[in-house]
Amino acid sequence: MAYEAGMKSRQLSQGAGPGVDRFQALQAFNARLVCMTVNESSYEEVVNGVWKVLGCDACALFLLDEATGELVMKGSVGYPDIPADLRISLSDTSSIHAQSFNEEYLIHVGALDPQNGVKPLSERISGNLVLPIISNSGPVGVFDFGSFDSGTFDPQEIGMCSMLVDQMSYSLENIRLVGELSQSRDAVIRGMALLAEIRDTHIGGHLNRICELAELLAEKLAARPGYLEVTLEFIETISRAAALHDVGKVGIPDSILLKPGKLTNAEFEIMKSHTLVGAELLEGLRKNFGDFTMISMGVDVAIGHHEWWDGSGYPHGKKGGEIPLSARILGICDVYDALTSDRVYKKAWTHQETEKNIREAAGRQFDPDLVDIFFETVEDLFAVREKYPN
Ligand SMILES: [Fe+2]
Ligand SMILES: [Fe+2]
Repeated sequence: MAYEAGMKSRQLSQGAGPGVDRFQALQAFNARLVCMTVNESSYEEVVNGVWKVLGCDACALFLLDEATGELVMKGSVGYPDIPADLRISLSDTSSIHAQSFNEEYLIHVGALDPQNGVKPLSERISGNLVLPIISNSGPVGVFDFGSFDSGTFDPQEIGMCSMLVDQMSYSLENIRLVGELSQSRDAVIRGMALLAEIRDTHIGGHLNRICELAELLAEKLAARPGYLEVTLEFIETISRAAALHDVGKVGIPDSILLKPGKLTNAEFEIMKSHTLVGAELLEGLRKNFGDFTMISMGVDVAIGHHEWWDGSGYPHGKKGGEIPLSARILGICDVYDALTSDRVYKKAWTHQETEKNIREAAGRQFDPDLVDIFFETVEDLFAVREKYPN
């Protein structure tokens, strides 16, 4: 029978039989779903997990892009000849993917014949099973299983595919909810940082630029030996936590924060306290709401961004490696952005003047290694300024 030939080919191609191996793969897949990190690469992981469990020839995950009314491919295995960002319109009547989504029903086509108007993802596909992924609020995508041999999926195979897609539906819903939560968390954090800086006259794009500059420098460090702590998570965290560096300014009176002239010694002492106020505020959040990496890095950058490499900074006079890396990164980005921006008391410096000034302070105010790496390529620094000019 054509179907048996297809099954055999699927099992042999992955070297996993339907028994213990498949059960172990399923267990591993479930465990992975539960503790999966939430980002775009999670989708690839899901697809790979399904492929390993089923040992099918090809499979692909599509999720709905609500803005365009299209199904967008988020990951695939076994379809080398289709573009990675394949989109299928929900109004495409020849697509079984669109049909499965619209009708919220599984579609199973054996021995695909191009003459009958059904369009598979690849010409190699002859048996196709498409299942809708349905969340609490309705269909959110479809999962495609393909067989290269002529034949169909038997009821046991279809049951297995349906079960995996059901599990995926829960996980995708979780990914969506966590994504939504983290977006609201970012919005609240950014709002808090804005609130602190809004009284300052240079609010403009400062926070946006600082976040991008810090991310850029962290990315450059990640490519260097000796910066093992700069992981993808570190880069992502600093790109958000950077906004919190001056959050403590919320506790500085207007008469000092907005004073146009030079601060007296007493006023400067109060101004310096924005580092401690910021750290205290974020520590309070950490105590009450949990130890999130963004908050703990926020504490580090708030308290440490005015520390100097030689120990003559504030508030604690920490030196060198005693200052957390995130704070050393912020120290450079903050000064670079402040110098290259207009202020009430000065015009913006040119990049050349700023680079010269910061290089001269390397080893005294700034981590000299980081300064070198920061200025290694300057086009990306200009691009940040262009993106957020004011
Ligand atoms: Fe500051
Ligand atoms: Fe700043």
